[in-house]
Amino acid sequence: IDLSEIVGWPDLDEAARRNMTPKAWAYISAGATDMYSLDLNRKSWNQVLLRPRYFVDVEEVDCSTTMMGQRTSVPFFISPTGMSKLAHPAGEPGIATAAGENDVIQMVSTNSSAPLKAIVEGRSRPDQVQFMQLYVNKDRPLSEELLRQVNAYGMKAVFVTVDCPTPGKREADERDRSVVGVQSGTSGGVVQSDKKGGGIGRTTGAYIDAKLNWEDIKWLRKHTPLPIGVKGIQCAEDAVRCADMGVDAIYLSNHGGRALDTAPPALYTLLELRQLRPDVLEKCEVYIDGGVRRGTDVVKALCLGARGVGMGRPFLYALTYGPEGVTHAIDIMRDEIEQTMRLVGVTKLDQLGPHLLNTRALDPL
Ligand code: FNR
Repeated sequence: IDLSEIVGWPDLDEAARRNMTPKAWAYISAGATDMYSLDLNRKSWNQVLLRPRYFVDVEEVDCSTTMMGQRTSVPFFISPTGMSKLAHPAGEPGIATAAGENDVIQMVSTNSSAPLKAIVEGRSRPDQVQFMQLYVNKDRPLSEELLRQVNAYGMKAVFVTVDCPTPGKREADERDRSVVGVQSGTSGGVVQSDKKGGGIGRTTGAYIDAKLNWEDIKWLRKHTPLPIGVKGIQCAEDAVRCADMGVDAIYLSNHGGRALDTAPPALYTLLELRQLRPDVLEKCEVYIDGGVRRGTDVVKALCLGARGVGMGRPFLYALTYGPEGVTHAIDIMRDEIEQTMRLVGVTKLDQLGPHLLNTRALDPL
């Protein structure tokens, strides 16, 4: 499929399946066990409807915003995804280049295939904003050294992922025992095939510390001067606890349905938080991801108070065409967001709000 034939993100799925090895497709596309959360993530966005307003001058629209105090041209960012070289040899440095050229923030995974240094060198401009996703290593000094580098390289925020104290059970990934020539250059995680199967996710994540707990927010504060976010929050209570502990951002996510199957789509968690503790949305910036594939999905999340919306798989699918593919995907999404803004009757993101939505199908909790 030629890149010019990709006109919407759903087109990327089939293109990527053809462009990738079966093993890469199994690892990247699949979710945990029965993949119910994976499926519902996508569907959840269509359960909320838009309530457009008309007779508004929408000739000029501006979808730029800030995330963690950093300017960005769009309200979406690139979710952290490990092992990007499975999609294309350009890997995470290639994503960095495309992100910089388009003024989009990339959140870099601890499980990146490339070393952190190479990803930083992949920046297309010196002032390019990158955030770091942190998986905490059982060997804490290794995480402390990584945090030191993250700061030295001028990255602007750290998001610690808490939803994978143990890797999810990803059966497509386990079933395919193909040897892959990609390891993690950032965490040192190694792909292995053992008696359980060929799981890339399981084996490269073996270093992750299952002892991680709330007390470790203090440890994290001690080892980074950067703003801190917590990724993988899935209920209002944990979001409240983050806010009470002075965390800067809460990132609602079920890990793209790859960790705990039947965990709720992040959109449900956002609605739950709005209903039970709307004050948390004032205290912390809220980020969200999972199944976002359309400009309308992004706009709905922003109407509900999200500051930024992440997407994972589609950028890897786009990367199968190299950095040029990532740029193409960004262009499509930016266009759709601007078009949606015009069609709902707003010219700036701060005009978005719950008055533009009908959430009836999901209310009450
Ligand atoms: C991920 N995700 C992820 N999250 C994280 O915190 N650290 C990581 O290293 C990874 N690695 C990773 C690899 C791959 C191949 C995928 C698909 C996902 C989860 C990711 O950040 C994000 O939460 C989901 O991808 C969002 O869902 P969508 O957009 O893929 O539907």
